[in-house]
Amino acid sequence: MARKKIALIGGGQIGGVLAQLIAQKKLGDVVLYDIVEDLPQGKTLDIVEASRVDMFDVNLKGTNDYQDIKDSDLVIITAGLPRKPGMSRDDLLATNAKIMQTVAENVKKYAPNSTVIVISNPLDAMVTLFKKITGFPANRVMGQAGVLDSSRFSTFIAWELGVSVKDVNALVLGGHGDTMVPIVRYANVNGIPVMELLERKYNDKAKAKEVMEAMVNRTKMAGGEVVKLLKTGSAFYSPASSAIAMAEAILFDEKRILPVCALLNGEFGISGYYVGVPAVLGADGVESIVEFTLDAEEKAALDNSVTAVKGLVEDMTRLGF
Ligand code: NAD
Ligand code: LAC
Repeated sequence: MARKKIALIGGGQIGGVLAQLIAQKKLGDVVLYDIVEDLPQGKTLDIVEASRVDMFDVNLKGTNDYQDIKDSDLVIITAGLPRKPGMSRDDLLATNAKIMQTVAENVKKYAPNSTVIVISNPLDAMVTLFKKITGFPANRVMGQAGVLDSSRFSTFIAWELGVSVKDVNALVLGGHGDTMVPIVRYANVNGIPVMELLERKYNDKAKAKEVMEAMVNRTKMAGGEVVKLLKTGSAFYSPASSAIAMAEAILFDEKRILPVCALLNGEFGISGYYVGVPAVLGADGVESIVEFTLDAEEKAALDNSVTAVKGLVEDMTRLGF
C-alpha cells in the first residue's frame, strides 16, 4: 500500500516543525512548499539527514513548484506573513488573503481530493476563504486553533492543581482570538470538576473563581504571551503539534473528538460560518459536529465570538476577497 502524501504549504517556523514531526512519526511522505527559494529544500535536507538517527525512511522533498504537491492526501497550510509593526489589521488580512488565494487555487488544481487543515492567521477568515475558493466539501476543509487553545488551557490547569496534564480535559470553543470561549463548567481532571478541585484547594469559592478567571484570561492571551517572549515570530512548536494530532486522527481514522474550526450548518444555532466546535475527526475529515448543551453564559460568549468571526469575514469581503 502506498504511503500517504502530505503537502505542507509554507516552510517557515511551523512548516519546518510539521515536516520533522511527520517524518519522526512516519505519517507519510512530505512535500514542503514555500515561495522562498532554497528554504524548503534546506529544511527538508536538514531533517532527512537525521533519518538514520531518528530511524525513518519516509521521503521528504522541499520545493518551490506547486506541481510537486500533485495528488496529496493531506494538505496543511501555514503560508502567510506575521503582523509587522505599523501594519493594520486590514493590511494583514488583505496580505494573507492574497497569499491564501494563490494557495487555494493551486491546492484545488493539484490536490483536488485532499483533506485540508489551515493554520494561517487570521485563522477563521483564512479557512473561510480557502473553502470559498476551492469549493471543497466542508468535511475536507478545517482549521486548527481549538486543539492548541484547549491544550494551553489544560496546561495552565495542570500547573495550578499540581497534577499531570495527561489527566486534564478542557475544551475551548469559538474563534481563534480574544473572544475564544474556554468552557469552565466541563473542565475536569479524570472526571472530577476542576472548579471543585480549586474550591477544595483554596477552601474559598470566590478565590477559586478568581484563579479560574486568571487561567481563562491567560488562555485567551496565550498566543500574545509567546510573541512577547520570542520578540520575533509567534508560537510554532505547539501549533505544529496540534495540527499533527488532527492529522493523525484523519490519517488513522481515529474518530477522535477534537475542537476543530469547522463550517457550521445550524449546530449551536450557527449557520454558514467557520467556528471552533467539538467534531469527530476520521478518514472523512470532519465526520460530524458534536453538539452539547451550553448554559446561557456560555451561549452568549460563543455568540459573541461568532460576531467577531463574522466581522472578520465581512472585512475580508469588503477588501475584495
Ligand atoms: P513563518 O513566517 O515562519 O512562515 C510562514 C511562511 O509562509 C514563510 O516561510 C513564507 O515564506 C511563507 N509564504 C509567504 N507567502 C507565501 C506564499 N504565497 N506561498 C507559500 N508560502 C508563502 O510563520 P509561522 O510561524 O510558520 O506561522 C505561519 C502562520 O500560522 C502565520 O499566519 C501565523 O500567524 C499562524 N499561526 C496560527 C496558529 C493557530 O493556532 N492557528 C498559531 C500560531 C501561528
Ligand atoms: C497563537 C497565534 C499566533 O495562538 O495564532 O499562537
